[in-house]
Amino acid sequence: MYINRYLICRSALTTLLLCWLFSVGTVDAAASKADPYRPAGMAPIPADNTATPARVELGKMLFFDPRLSGSQWISCASCHNPALGWSDGLPTAIGAGMKKLPRATPTILNVAYNTIFMWDGRAASLEDQATGPIKAKAEMDQDMTILVERLNAIPGYGKAFEHAYPGEGITEKTIAKALASYERTIVSTNSPFDRWHAGNKKAVDDSTKRGFELFTGKAKCSVCHEGFNFTDNGFHNIGLKTLKDMAEDVGRFNQRKVKINHGAFKTPTLRDVALTAPYMHNGIYQTLEEVVDHYDRGGDVKDNLDPNMEPLNLTLQEKQDLVAFLKSLTSQPVLVTIPQLPR
Ligand code: HEC
Ligand code: HEC
Repeated sequence: MYINRYLICRSALTTLLLCWLFSVGTVDAAASKADPYRPAGMAPIPADNTATPARVELGKMLFFDPRLSGSQWISCASCHNPALGWSDGLPTAIGAGMKKLPRATPTILNVAYNTIFMWDGRAASLEDQATGPIKAKAEMDQDMTILVERLNAIPGYGKAFEHAYPGEGITEKTIAKALASYERTIVSTNSPFDRWHAGNKKAVDDSTKRGFELFTGKAKCSVCHEGFNFTDNGFHNIGLKTLKDMAEDVGRFNQRKVKINHGAFKTPTLRDVALTAPYMHNGIYQTLEEVVDHYDRGGDVKDNLDPNMEPLNLTLQEKQDLVAFLKSLTSQPVLVTIPQLPR
């Protein structure tokens, strides 16, 4: 399946359609009606956590609630801020006690379509991931027993949990399930690229069209940034330098100790990428132009470099075209309402 999709995905626009069709499993009729461009069937929902409006609403309240953190001051949205492309606009995140973290906050846009989570792939599902940041000393620094007690003392949450997960109570598990249910609703919408793909020739300019041609051709970006969500959910070492004030980060190698994983990080989605600077797991690049220059050089640190990283010899025009294409992946703005938190 992977090989099939990869071979199909690297060619031009017409076959991108095929690639999406290939990616569709069981299509969720309601979702695909709302947005015909997104392969809804690709997003697996665990059988014990089917999406209901009550679950999504509860998850949204939890996501925006700073009372989930030890300090009662940091919420998921402090770092995954909808106004900043569901990231934080920082090179690397700032967590509990205003401490700088070693890695950048990734967007959570389209996480429903990921098959593995975190820069190093240490979480296997959204449910698995959700309470990690709450408990992490460096992030929200919260003791789960205290959190469960705290939420139980808020009558509004008692009702909301009972409504969403009848008889299951307020537990680490239901907190995780609700958060995951909300996160699955955070999806990209109809970008200029999607409108072009759907047949509107005027939705993007010629530079963008050439950029997509390069992306899937000469520049070989789609080898790793493949399919609808522009990621292979794989791990690659793309030869990034380590910043001076930071310790070396071995990435995926921490999880699976094979050489190929040394310095390899998860391929991020490129959806809405124009909104989520700075870039890379260590926030080393401020602009998309700098990112394209990195690939044009074939990376900086050649030790254990992914075999698909080699100098591209792009012209200035070609670099501009690639950037134009990346910018065409920005969704139509969506109004995100901030919930009133339960008392
Ligand atoms: C202090 C900032 C911060 C807070 C608060 C925070 N996150 Fe994150 N989040 C990050 C960083 C940094 C990463 C990447 C860490 C890594 O890969 O090592 C991340 C990764 C993720 C991912 C993985 C995305 C992917 O594509 O792999 C998800 C999902 C996520 N966070 C959801 C949440 C939820 C839900 C909460 C609240 C319970 C939350 N985060 C709170 C900073 C934060
Ligand atoms: C060998 C696989 C591979 C190839 C080829 C590749 N990428 Fe990437 N890309 C990645 C990985 C992995 C990351 C994250 C690296 C990290 O942070 O350590 C990344 C990160 C990025 C980012 C930053 C996204 C963010 O949210 O921080 C952009 C933009 C990007 N790539 C665009 C491109 C473009 C444009 C090309 C073609 C010129 C390309 N990529 C080719 C694997 C690849």
